[in-house]
Amino acid sequence: MTNDPDTHARALAAASESPTDWFEELYNQAQRGDAIVPWDRGTPHDLLASWAGDRDGAGLHALVVGCGLGRDSEYLASLHYETVAFDVSPTAVASTRDRFPGTAVDYRVADLLDPPADWHHAFDLVVESLTVQALPVPLHEAAIERVASFVAPGGTLLVIAAARDGEARPEGPPWPLTRTEIESFATGGLTPHDIVRDEIRWRAEFRRPATTS
Ligand SMILES: C[S@@+](CC[C@H](N)C(=O)[O-])C[C@H]1O[C@@H](n2cnc3c(N)ncnc32)[C@H](O)[C@@H]1O
Repeated sequence: MTNDPDTHARALAAASESPTDWFEELYNQAQRGDAIVPWDRGTPHDLLASWAGDRDGAGLHALVVGCGLGRDSEYLASLHYETVAFDVSPTAVASTRDRFPGTAVDYRVADLLDPPADWHHAFDLVVESLTVQALPVPLHEAAIERVASFVAPGGTLLVIAAARDGEARPEGPPWPLTRTEIESFATGGLTPHDIVRDEIRWRAEFRRPATTS
């Protein structure tokens, strides 16, 4: 690897034949020690940790979308959520299982754009951090709809993403989310609860009413 990790990841994405194949290539290279995964920071995302505080997830089911190397899923498990976490990259999932051999998290290989049917309305907490923005803009609408569909009645969706203004599409990845895109997570019965933006990032919470009429 001759570039910095972000530049290297972008080069892999540019050369990839599909919007997601390059993740597997990157995780493979990282497993061999030939690349660094730019988002592998070893600690939960700070916006997740500040949101979660001292919540106790005992008795609640959580789903982590595009879990990468497990930083957020392990954190939710430490808060006692019964946690399922998935990634499209088999090597990411295998590397994460190796990294946390005694994990309580149920790691799965799955595609957000074609998820298991039994995840529909199945999770009390869904965490989507940096995955939709890792997909090209034309895939965002479908990805957002799938993320929202995982939330159970009475459940919560937390979205963490980079922010962008206007409709000009950046040379991704990533392809940060506009306000319109963030607000569009309120779909399929979800309602916005708290949408916060700083200079560069969104942290947005949505909820599904406990009873649907
Ligand atoms: C930018 S990384 C963020 C990883 C993790 N959420 C984190 O914050 O450390 C995006 C992750 O989403 C995964 N991913 C991309 N497209 C996906 C899809 N269609 N289904 C499931 N996972 C996907 C990638 O393999 C990668 O691990």
